[in-house]
Amino acid sequence: MPTVEATTRPLADSDAPLLAVGAFAPASGERSDPPELAADASAVAEAAGFDLGAELVAAGFDGSVGATLRVPTRGSLPAATLLIVGLGPRADAGTDTLRRAGAAAALGAERVDRLAVGLSEVLDDLDAADAVQALVEGVLLGSYRFSTYQSDAPPFELETVAVHVADAAQDAAQQAVEVARATAGAGTLARDLINTPPQDKRPPALADRVAAQVADLPIEVRVLDEAALEEGGYGGILGVGQGSSEPPRLVELTYAPEGAERHIALVGKGITFDTGGISLKPSTAMETMKTDMGGAATVAAVIQGAAQLGLPVKVTAILALAENMPSGTATRVSDVLTMKDGTTVEVINTDAEGRLVLGDALVHASELEPDAIVDVATLTGAAVVALGDRISVLIADDDDLADALLAAGTTAGEPSWRLPLAADEYGDRIEGAIADLKNSGGREAGTIFAGLFLHRFVAEDIPWAHLDIAGTAWTSSERGYLSKGATGVSVRTLLQWLRTS
Ligand code: BES
Ligand code: MN
Ligand code: ZN
Repeated sequence: MPTVEATTRPLADSDAPLLAVGAFAPASGERSDPPELAADASAVAEAAGFDLGAELVAAGFDGSVGATLRVPTRGSLPAATLLIVGLGPRADAGTDTLRRAGAAAALGAERVDRLAVGLSEVLDDLDAADAVQALVEGVLLGSYRFSTYQSDAPPFELETVAVHVADAAQDAAQQAVEVARATAGAGTLARDLINTPPQDKRPPALADRVAAQVADLPIEVRVLDEAALEEGGYGGILGVGQGSSEPPRLVELTYAPEGAERHIALVGKGITFDTGGISLKPSTAMETMKTDMGGAATVAAVIQGAAQLGLPVKVTAILALAENMPSGTATRVSDVLTMKDGTTVEVINTDAEGRLVLGDALVHASELEPDAIVDVATLTGAAVVALGDRISVLIADDDDLADALLAAGTTAGEPSWRLPLAADEYGDRIEGAIADLKNSGGREAGTIFAGLFLHRFVAEDIPWAHLDIAGTAWTSSERGYLSKGATGVSVRTLLQWLRTS
């Protein structure tokens, strides 16, 4: 990740080879009208003696969000090139505009070692810290590459980024840079783990990798191996993992800063590969199933970010890791599993495995008596059908918690939409015929069914929320600050929530 500094030096004096400045789409909406230069763009144009507005019109630059245009300075400034970045219409611009613009600047800076970005003019409705945070997140997210498995990865040369801010914003900007670095770093960790091929992150290996990742931070690591899971009665996790030649794991990470007044438990689904088990998935449905540990990756990343930022809240992250494979030792359809709290579950479909590992992990979390539990999971295909790949599903039994998470998601550029828990309407659907519960109830309202199932394993007095990221954890096309592949979704939401609630 490039290093980032906030500075109040004039942008035009920067010795970086590339200066990024913004331009808004014309308010008139007419493409023939000149884009409206942001303050930094006007200032560098003036220092260089350019009529930048005329150049942009001549080049057909429309100022749409993330559009870029290179303008050579021809010796008029220390920098060789101006990179004009579109911000869309001024009236629509918000934090996510800055994230997208930051990513566009990073992409434009692939072949230089230093980039300077002008942000002396903050968008009207934003405070300086939020603006700097979003912009820097965009630059860092946009410079993400997953090239571990490529023999000839194109080099990404950007090493340092200077964000030029107004004098009054200096202190806030410095802090915002730290928040952005920790947030983007957490997002990068989640994306790296999710993008890793499944043979290199089978449960014991993933547990080790996560433990090594947080070794230098004030985070305590406890790993329950198969013997400890047996001993503790984690029948859901063991039942899902028993078809694999690699045993399951439960990883508990604890960040407990002195003086913390709240304790949040985060629970993540960590299926390192989901074949469906004996209820085998068709081949195409399996193609993205290395992402099925996305919830676990998220909660590991969030606790890393929380510890790096020194947030004054205790966080426990619980990762339920198993590989869902078909084999002679796999759980059969109609087997009955006994969960950690003694609840029996008839396995109607071995592909509904996430709720089985999460059930045990939610019981584990409840026993810690936190102030709230949030779980994150690539749980249901029905969530993809309902909301697609841009909006996550939120289900909660507590309105305040739900509202706080929805708001944090909006700020973070990771929208969620709440579905009802619908206990009155559908609560009885999870009741089993021969066991207490069944793990699948057919196609209708599949996301709600899964939510109701999970809810059964949360202690009654603890507020609980569930993020189903089945649709949003992965993108099959490049989108603004997201490259193809893992998105790291919900990492920013949860860090924003932990930081501000
Ligand atoms: N991991 C899948 C859900 C999923 C689907 C994630 C698409 C990402 C993209 C989950 O384990 C699953 O297979 N769910 C089944 C449940 C059904 C058998 C009740 C589903 O949603 O089809
Ligand atoms: Mn499955
Ligand atoms: Zn799954």
